[in-house]
Order: sequence, then structure tokens, then C-alpha cells
Amino acid sequence: MDSLNKVIINKDKNVKPIWLMRQAGRYLPEFREIRSKNQNFIELCLNTKLVPEITLQPLKRFDFDAAIIFSDILMIPYGLNQRVEFKKNYGPILGEFNYFESSNIEKELFKKKLKPVYDSMSSLSNQLKGKKKSLIGFVGAPWTLLVYMLNRKSPKKTSIENFLLDKSKIDNLLELIIEYIKIHIEEQVKSGATIIQIFDSWAGLVKDKDVEKYIYEPTKKVVQFTQGLKIPAICFPREIKDYPKYVKTVSPDVISIDYNVNIRKIAEEVEIPIQGGLDPKILLSNSETLIKETKEILNVFKNKPYIFNLGHGVLPETEPKMVDKLVKVVRDNQ
Ligand code: CP3
Repeated sequence: MDSLNKVIINKDKNVKPIWLMRQAGRYLPEFREIRSKNQNFIELCLNTKLVPEITLQPLKRFDFDAAIIFSDILMIPYGLNQRVEFKKNYGPILGEFNYFESSNIEKELFKKKLKPVYDSMSSLSNQLKGKKKSLIGFVGAPWTLLVYMLNRKSPKKTSIENFLLDKSKIDNLLELIIEYIKIHIEEQVKSGATIIQIFDSWAGLVKDKDVEKYIYEPTKKVVQFTQGLKIPAICFPREIKDYPKYVKTVSPDVISIDYNVNIRKIAEEVEIPIQGGLDPKILLSNSETLIKETKEILNVFKNKPYIFNLGHGVLPETEPKMVDKLVKVVRDNQ
């Protein structure tokens, strides 16, 4: 059994596996080299030769316990025929979402458009056979995808209310998104993903009164679907206020925490395996600080099932040698 599943299924407290969100990415020179020759990000995510290579780049350098497929949460809007582009130093830009066109898209057409993702997953699954590494597939949570599809770019804290006005439109769109998230999960699992992570990067934008409707309910459907495939679901509801309530209501297999969470408090309040929490900025500091912060986290979660990770993705300015140090500290202190 791979070590993430030891923690998730066996609730093993003696092993502290490690992987990092955005472990394949711009902080690695070998990624930047490929990226500079492949300007179109969506096309890169559909490249069945380069996706497995990029996914495995961090595992060649560091002793990580999991590979996460190099892809993006915005592959779902792309599959639904919404235009998706990535502008340098700006982030994603999406085209107008056409509900009528997207709701009439054939499911087979969606799967066909995203088939290269599933082919890359199969290739990774074959390459990792016998290696005791987890292979993580992922999706955006319904709310976060809704935000991107309607806001058409990364949101600012203030810009959310506008598109929440037309409630009827939103209800239908949420259902549509959930349907396609399920398809995307199922296809990734069929191709060899052993764990699914659900990224709700903008969960923190939802007001308390709307959390049930936009976060708990839709995410729970996705989690239950994943668990129905006999695959664990890790949820990352970034900047949500009440993690214990989220865990109780949504029932994921693992809760991934952001870097604002009080780790001592959550270690007491939450029974299920916990993942993450280290501020990615710590990797920009020095070895001394890194060792201190890492040991503190390991100490807090000493008697809990815990998967080491950051509280958000690796920052592009990170020096690879700091990641190497982090992995070694985690290995040496368990
Ligand atoms: O973790 C991994 O190594 C797997 C790869 C991965 C990417 N995106 C590759 C990527 C994963 C898991 C994602 C998820 C994702 N994508 C999220 C959720 C996690 C989070 O960061 O909150 C979100 C919100 C997106 C949407 C997205 N994709 C944004 C906002 C951006 C631009 C900002 C940025 O960080 O560059 C992307 C582009 C993107 N996705 C890059 C990578 C490596 C950078 C592309 C580049 O080289 O310019």
C-alpha cells in the first residue's frame, strides 16, 4: 500500500507522507524550459508526451510520496467549450459562458476533448506501477469552477456579489458543473488515479449564509460520488471559516488546510486525517526557519494521521533546494 493510503485508510500515525500542491511548476527550471517552448497552456495540458514528463519532474528530484497529474481545474470549462486562456503575469482569462451551448454538449464530446488528460493519467499509472506512490487526480470544486466560469478571471473579494444576483441561472449552472466534475473524476479514476483532490480555492469568498448552498451541498455530492468509486477524496476549501463544520457536513476522507488555520486547534477538533498547513512563504525564508516550522507541524500532528503539504501551492520564487530540505526534515523527524 502507498503511504498516503496508509494514512487515509489505515489511519497510520507513524508515517507522515509528503507531497506539495503545485509541486510541478515554475519553481523548477526543467518545467520553465518546457513551458517556454509551449506557450499555449491548455495545449500543454493536452500533450500526452509532456504531461507525464512534467508530472514526474518533481519526483525525480525529491522523495515525494505522490504524483499529481499536471493539468488544471479549468480543463472542465475548456471541455464545455468555454474559451480558456492564460495570460502571462495575469492568470486565466475565460470567454463568455454560453449555457445553452454547454448544456447541450454531448458527454462523449466532452470526454473526447479531455481524452489526452486521461491518456496521460494511464501513462503515469503504468510508469508508477510497483513504486508505492499515490497518483492524484483532481478537480475544481463546483463553487470555484462557477466563480471562474461566470467571473471569467480570478476574482477579487468584492466582485462576487454581481454574478450571484441571477439565482435561477446559477442553480442550473451549478448542477451542470457537478455533472461534468463527476465525469472528469470517473475518467481520471478509470485511467489510474488512486486519490482525488477537490480544490475549492475560492471557498473563503462565500458568506456564512450561503455556505450550505454553494460549498457544503455541491461539494458533498462530488465527495460521495468519488467515495462511491472506492477512491478517497481530499478536500481543500481554502480560507473557509469553520473547518470542523465543513468536515462534519461534507465528510471528505482527508481535509487539506490552508496556512491561516490554527494547527493546534484543528488537531483537537477534527478526527479525520489532515493534510497541509505550512505557509508556502516559509520556503522563501532560510533553512533554520524552515526546519523550525516543519518540526512544529510534525510535533502538533505526531499522534494524528497526517499528510505533509503546504497551505497553498509552491510559489514560483521557491528555490528547489529548500523543497529538498523540507522533504529531508519531514523524513528525518518521524
Ligand atoms: O499541483 C500540481 O502540481 C498540479 C498542477 C496544477 C495546476 N493547476 C497547474 C498550473 C493544479 C493542481 C492546478 C489547480 C488550479 N488551477 C487551482 C486550484 C489550486 C490553487 O492554486 O488555488 C486554480 C485556482 C487554478 C486556476 C489557475 N491555473 C490559475 C489561477 C493560474 C494562474 C496563476 C498561476 O499560479 O500561475 C493557473 C495556471 C497554472 N496552472 C500554472 C500551473 C503550473 C502556471 C502556468 C504557467 O506556467 O504560467
